[in-house]
Amino acid sequence: MDKFIVRGGNRLRGSIQISGAKNATLELMPAALLAPGTYSLRNTPNIRDVWTMSRLLGSMGIHAELNDGELFLDTRNLTSQEAPYEHVKKMRASIHVLGPLVARYGYAKVSLPGGCAWGPRPIDLHLKGLERLGAEIELDSGYIIARAERLKGTTITLDVSSVGATFNLMAAATLAEGKTIIVNAAMEPEVTAAGRFLQKMGAEIEGLGTSGITICGVTDLMPSDETTIPDRIETATLLAGVAMTGGEVTLQGTNPYHLSFIIERLEEAGCELDVNTNEIVLRAPDQLKPVSITTAIYPGFPTDMQAQWTAMMACAKGVSTITEKIYTDRFSHVPELARLGCDVEVHENRVIIKGGKSLKGATVMSTDLRGSVAMVLAGLIAEGETDVLRIYHLDRGYERLEDKLRSLGADIVREKTEEF
Ligand code: EPU
Repeated sequence: MDKFIVRGGNRLRGSIQISGAKNATLELMPAALLAPGTYSLRNTPNIRDVWTMSRLLGSMGIHAELNDGELFLDTRNLTSQEAPYEHVKKMRASIHVLGPLVARYGYAKVSLPGGCAWGPRPIDLHLKGLERLGAEIELDSGYIIARAERLKGTTITLDVSSVGATFNLMAAATLAEGKTIIVNAAMEPEVTAAGRFLQKMGAEIEGLGTSGITICGVTDLMPSDETTIPDRIETATLLAGVAMTGGEVTLQGTNPYHLSFIIERLEEAGCELDVNTNEIVLRAPDQLKPVSITTAIYPGFPTDMQAQWTAMMACAKGVSTITEKIYTDRFSHVPELARLGCDVEVHENRVIIKGGKSLKGATVMSTDLRGSVAMVLAGLIAEGETDVLRIYHLDRGYERLEDKLRSLGADIVREKTEEF
């Protein structure tokens, strides 16, 4: 296993290129199941979750190869419509193959994802929606088995605006007979990006980026190439790091429109931001101000930035609160931040941070991707050495994070550990 050793105290300065979006890529790759052929997906991040999705697709006979940000996919020789537990347990987004497989091949067998480090993450909306589209769903020995001759368009109202369910149902509906309307659809840029890709493949979709998506089913789709959108959470994570260290950085190849809510909160915290079409410059103040946030669906404050914002607020002088509305117990990072000296407490789904105390390096770890990166951010300002263990969580979603941070002046190295 690898760990990071971070020595705090350096201001981040310079400029850095943002990678392609993990969560968009994890929809584009399964979407390619809908039309057998070859695909080139540019700006694909070289991260563990992409490797896991490649292995999962590989177990179905699909060839996936990533070279210099270009992911080549050959979906012509599908040999299995099954997503085995060994892959699904590593990454819940494996469920994204369900809709495309049942729509294109009339059959899918996908392992139930099970629990998650921060509590239950149900998939009932995916299953109910597919049933409304006419699929027969059976649960057997930990697997979802879905069958359909041809799906039939219908109206599906999601109880909760779900990113994954919107993707699965939108993708499935592209090949259904007739019209499907998804009400309370997710508006996240990654879902919109997947919808645009499906449109390029020949799907008839309207309403992308709104809470009502209409899909008119077609009989066939064709392969298409695509360039993945920039990762808004990587962008926001780095912005938080720069703000915490009092630095000044230019982030290139990003999309500021996907980050407007966070940009405004960073301004409230005292940062100066220059925003251009695909670039953000952030100049941090000498002292950050506390800014309370509540997570929400897009365009609100993303749950995937909650842990990093908590670390950032530990540097702001004064009290702030973070209220988590999407995953109400996503707080595995909080006790670890406390080990670094943050004055931080959880009350139900709210974190209270009394910021401005100096942090001291320690050995820490978190049980999820965003929690792990929050430890790295805290390590950047802690006095002395912070060892962040089990960074395989972090490697799921951040491409060469240590190289990027080092190029901005951080003192961070990756080392192998004996830990099991
Ligand atoms: N929900 C249900 N039933 C369902 C599906 C979702 O009740 O069938 C609830 C969830 O429990 C949650 C809410 O709906 O309270 C939203 O969950 P959603 O389905 O939108 O999440 P997801 O699709 O499983 C994606 C991202 C997550 C991100 C969430 C929320 C991917 C691969 N994952 O997950 O990203 O936190 O949307 O924005 O796109 C991350 O990148 O660190 C990450 C966890």
